[in-house]
Amino acid sequence: DTSKVDAMKKAHQLAASTYHSIFMFTEEGSPGRVYAQERYFTEAQIEHFKIGYALDEWETLAKVLEQNEFDLTIMEEAGLVAKRKTSGYYDLFRNRLIFPISDNNGDIVGFGGRIVGEGQPKYLNSPETPIYQKAKTLFHMFEARPIIRKKNKAYLFEGALDVMAAWKAGIENAVATLGTALSQDHAKLLRRNAEDVILCYDGDKAGREAIRKTIPVLENVGCQIQVCLLPDGYDPDDYVKEFGEEALKAYLEEELLSVMAFKMYDAKQTKNLQNEGERLKYIEDMLEAIARLESIEQEHYLKQLSNEFNLSFQVLHQEMMRKERKAT
Ligand code: GTP
Ligand code: MN
Ligand code: MN
Ligand code: MN
Ligand code: MN
Repeated sequence: DTSKVDAMKKAHQLAASTYHSIFMFTEEGSPGRVYAQERYFTEAQIEHFKIGYALDEWETLAKVLEQNEFDLTIMEEAGLVAKRKTSGYYDLFRNRLIFPISDNNGDIVGFGGRIVGEGQPKYLNSPETPIYQKAKTLFHMFEARPIIRKKNKAYLFEGALDVMAAWKAGIENAVATLGTALSQDHAKLLRRNAEDVILCYDGDKAGREAIRKTIPVLENVGCQIQVCLLPDGYDPDDYVKEFGEEALKAYLEEELLSVMAFKMYDAKQTKNLQNEGERLKYIEDMLEAIARLESIEQEHYLKQLSNEFNLSFQVLHQEMMRKERKAT
């Protein structure tokens, strides 16, 4: 009901300003500041993303909520505290750098928390609650929406730290799923605000796997997709740390692959093209993918295949046409 939702949202607002004040102004908040420094956070980022710190204590937020007369059973349901076996409540977020997550109206409905230093789990996100529906919420969407609309383009990353890295580099039209799979609703939310989506997941096996799964979800809602493949082992945050802001910006703007180019690259990673059987399978798979493209693109990629494997364009074209007919 509305009064519960209202209490949950007010509590998140209070929690966000508590975490932020601890980070900014308190002696005890120093581990958070030290960690933020290690990760090269700028003042502008801290302000824009309202970065906070949850102390390495059990009852900091629980007490603040209690003092402000919030019903702690509701606060538990909101994912801010948990109930002790004995009696009382303890904080869910401890010793973590905190970044608030806004819903599509700009109300804070959850938090992401990165452990300061080592520890498990590395990231703790708010659970699914009546106010935080993960499949409908993209990190930084509310904040980035005006720029996403203006550019008619959105960058999609895995993690909040990646959105922050891009933001530092001047790419402000970026959002993240926070490690979950992109849902149909996420895709619709993107499409409502932009036609072009640039998929930029981590440069590792898991990232490429996730790109593979995300492409059809975005295609279904009519997005124009480009893929930005980071070098092996890098995510945007690693990249900016090593090569700097200018380099990340250039990479995100220039190193873009079409979906087809991504598929060709990706399929090659998992196949040994020296092996005849695998090579033929690769060519078959690519012809199937090419069959689904617009005709100008078809010609382009057929030529590429024909050159790469020294096969006749005509034969490839015929085979593709056969697949096209079979598909429709
Ligand atoms: P950093 O060391 O902070 O740079 O993290 P990372 O870049 O290694 O994170 P990773 O690429 O593994 O994860 C990307 C995103 O997945 C994060 O932003 C999280 O939202 C999510 N994620 C990663 N690890 C965990 C975890 O242990 N629990 C949960 N719930 N989510 C995670
Ligand atoms: Mn990792
Ligand atoms: Mn990763
Ligand atoms: Mn990562
Ligand atoms: Mn990272």
